[in-house]
Amino acid sequence: MPIVYHEKSKEFHLYNKEVSYLFQIIDNGQLGQLYYGKRLRDREDFSHLFERCSRDMAPYNFEGNCDFSLEHIKQEYPTFGNGDMRYPAYEIERVNGSRIVEFAYDSHKIYQGKPELSGMPATYVEKPEEAETLEVTLKEPYIHMKMVLIYTIYEDYPVITRSVRFENESEDDQVLLNALSGCVDLPDRDYEMIELAGAWARERNVVKRYLEYGLQGIYSMRGASSYQFNPFLVLKRPKADEFSGEVLGFSLVYSGNFLAQVEVDNYDVSRVLLGIHPHGFRWTLKQGESFQTPEMVMVYSDKGLNKMSQVYHELYRTRLARGKWRDLERPILINNWEATYFDFNEQKIYELAEKAAGLGIELFVLDDGWFGKRNDDTSSLGDWYPNEEKLKGGLRLLAERINGLGLKFGMWIEPEMVNKDSDLYRKHPDWVFAEVGRNMCHSRNQYVLDFSKKEVRDYIYDMLERLFLDLPISYIKWDMNRTLSDIFSNGNDREYQGKTYHKYILGVYELYERLIQKFPDILFESCASGGARFDPGMLYYAPQAWTSDNTDAVQRLKIQYGTSMVYPISSIGSHVSASPNHQTGRETSMEMRADVAYFGTFGYELDLMELTEEDLEKIREQVVFMKEHRSLIHHGTFYRLKSPFEGNETAWMVVAKDRREALVAYYRILQPTNTGFCRLKLEGLDEEVMYQIEDLDYDCYGDELMQSGLILSDTASGVRNSKWKEKGDFQARLIKLTAI
Ligand code: DGJ
Repeated sequence: MPIVYHEKSKEFHLYNKEVSYLFQIIDNGQLGQLYYGKRLRDREDFSHLFERCSRDMAPYNFEGNCDFSLEHIKQEYPTFGNGDMRYPAYEIERVNGSRIVEFAYDSHKIYQGKPELSGMPATYVEKPEEAETLEVTLKEPYIHMKMVLIYTIYEDYPVITRSVRFENESEDDQVLLNALSGCVDLPDRDYEMIELAGAWARERNVVKRYLEYGLQGIYSMRGASSYQFNPFLVLKRPKADEFSGEVLGFSLVYSGNFLAQVEVDNYDVSRVLLGIHPHGFRWTLKQGESFQTPEMVMVYSDKGLNKMSQVYHELYRTRLARGKWRDLERPILINNWEATYFDFNEQKIYELAEKAAGLGIELFVLDDGWFGKRNDDTSSLGDWYPNEEKLKGGLRLLAERINGLGLKFGMWIEPEMVNKDSDLYRKHPDWVFAEVGRNMCHSRNQYVLDFSKKEVRDYIYDMLERLFLDLPISYIKWDMNRTLSDIFSNGNDREYQGKTYHKYILGVYELYERLIQKFPDILFESCASGGARFDPGMLYYAPQAWTSDNTDAVQRLKIQYGTSMVYPISSIGSHVSASPNHQTGRETSMEMRADVAYFGTFGYELDLMELTEEDLEKIREQVVFMKEHRSLIHHGTFYRLKSPFEGNETAWMVVAKDRREALVAYYRILQPTNTGFCRLKLEGLDEEVMYQIEDLDYDCYGDELMQSGLILSDTASGVRNSKWKEKGDFQARLIKLTAI
C-alpha cells in the first residue's frame, strides 16, 4: 500500500520500495512537509520531524503562541503574507483586493490509479495497480474556494507526481495571479543545482551551481518552454555524480511559460517551486469554474544522475508518450532540409528519395517549402495546400511515387504560424497575436496565430485534415519557429488577456490531440527551430522531437548528453548531415557522424547525390547497423560515462534490459599524443556473465568490465599493438558486447 493516512498523527505517507514523501495536517489546517527522500519504514507518528521554532521577530499565527510561524514551517503548498514571507506557490486576488487567504484541510481520498488532467498532458498508468493517488481537499472559508492537491506515487518507480486544482464555489470572481504545480521545502541547502541551458543550436547544455541564499532559478516567458532553459532542474548533493549519491529531479509536463526556482531562506531551508510562470498569468475564476495546473514529476535517486535519468527515460517513454509509435521501431528517415533548403522541385525530391531507397532508408520527409507559394521564409505559412508550381504533377503524385520506391512519406508543417504574405493573413489579419494597428515584432518574417481561439484552431485543423486525408502520410514534423511576443488576443477583453499564454498552449495541445486521434497511424515529431520546445508536454503528443538545428557531431555530443538528463533516447531526433557541417563548418568522418546520431531516432539530412560511392556504401552499412540495434538503443538502459562538459572525451553506453548485450560509445574530440592509458569503467552489466567484446581478441566478465574497465588505450597512448590506430581529431568508437 504505497499511500497511508495515519489518523492520529494526521500524517500522510507516500512510499514505495525506494522513496518516501511525508506531510501532515498542521495546527492551522494547512499542510506541513515532513520528509522527502530515500524510503523510510512506515510508522504511526513522524511528528518529531515537524520543527516548530520561536525566533525573534517572526510573524506568529496564533494569539498568545510563539512557536507556530509559517515563516519557519516547511509547507506543501504555501501562500504569502500571513506568516510566510518567502515566495509562494500560489496567489489569489480576492474580490476586495486582499491577497490573504488561508486554505485548511477539509477531506482527502486515496485510490488506485492516476487521474487524467483534462486537456493537458500528463503521465498515466495502464493498469490501476501501477500507482496510487491521494487527493487532499482544502477549503478557504471566507472566499468559498476549494483547492485539491493531487499526488500520485508509482509502485515501481521512485516517482511522485503532483498537481493542483482550484475550484471557485463562491458567487464572486476570484483571480489566480499565480498557480504553480508544487512546492518542496527541503530542510537544508547542501545542494548543487543542475539546469539545462542554452540557445539556438546549443540547446540543453548542463550547467551546475551551488545553492546560495536567495533566489536561483530558470524560466521561460517566451510562450514555449524555450532553448534558453528547459522546464527541469536537479538538486544533487555536492558529492553526488553520475553513478552515486542523492539526486532529486523536478520536471514539468508543460510546453509554455514556466518557472523553476529554488529559494534558500536565511535558515537554510531550500524551497523548490515549479509551474507556470506567473508573468502574464491572471486567471479569473467565475462561480463553478476550476483551474488545473500542469503536472510536476519528481524523481528520487540515491544512485546518482544516471539512475534519475533512467527513471525519467522509462517513465516518459512508456507512461507519457502514447500511441502506436510509442513502442514501435522508429523508421530511419531522410529529410531534405539540409540537402535542398527551399530550392527543390519534384524531380530533385524524387531523385533524393530514389537514392535513399537504394540505401535501405525507410521514410522520406519533405521539409519546409512544399506549400502555398513558399520559396523562402517570407511567405505562405498558413496556406497549407501544395505548391503546384514547384511540385509539378502535385504533391500526391510525388508522395505516391516515393511510396512506390518502398519508402514511407512524411512532411513538415508549422501550423501555429503565419506570414503576412499569405492568403490566411490577408483574410484574417486579426488572428495573430498583437493588437491590430500596433507595431508587432516579426521573427523569421512570421507571426503567431492566436491559438487561444477555437475558430483559429478549427480553421487550421480543417486544412490539415483535408491534406492528411488526401496524401499517403506516415509522418509529420510539426515545427514552431519563433518566440511569442506582443501577446494580445484581439476581440477579447481585459480579463481574457491574462489567460492568453496558457490558452495558447492548451490550444496547441488540443490541435495535436485532434490530429493524433484522427490519424493514429501517423508518427509525429515535434520541433521548434530545433529544440526550443523539447519538453515532456510535447512528448505526450509526439514521441520524438528534433533535438537541435545544430547537426555537427562534435557539438551534438553536448546537446544529446544534456538532453539525456531527462528525455529518453527514443525521443532524441538525430541525423547524419553533410561535412563540412552547415552550422559549424567542421569536417568530421561519416563514422563519427553516425556514431553520434545512432543515439537517438536516426536519420540523414544531406544531399545524397553529392556523396561518393564510398560514402554511400558506408550509409548502407550504417542503415543495416541501426536496424539491428535500434531496439537495444531505444529500449535499453542508457548510462552516461564521461561528460563532454568536463574534458576531451565523451562516453555513454546502452545495456539491454536482460543485460545480454550492450553498446558502448567512446568519442574523442582532439587527438592527443603520447597521452595516458585509457580505461572506461562500464555500468549496468551482469557481473556473472562473460561478454564477447566485438573486435577484441579476448572476452571479459561483467565485473571485470565494470571494476577494472574496458581498455581503450590506443596509439595515442603509445600502445603500438592496439587495435585502435586511428589518428586525428573527432574520433568515435562503438564497441558491442554480447553475452556468451
Ligand atoms: C527549423 C527546423 O528546426 C529545421 O529542421 C527545418 O525544418 C526548418 N525549420 C524549416 O524551416
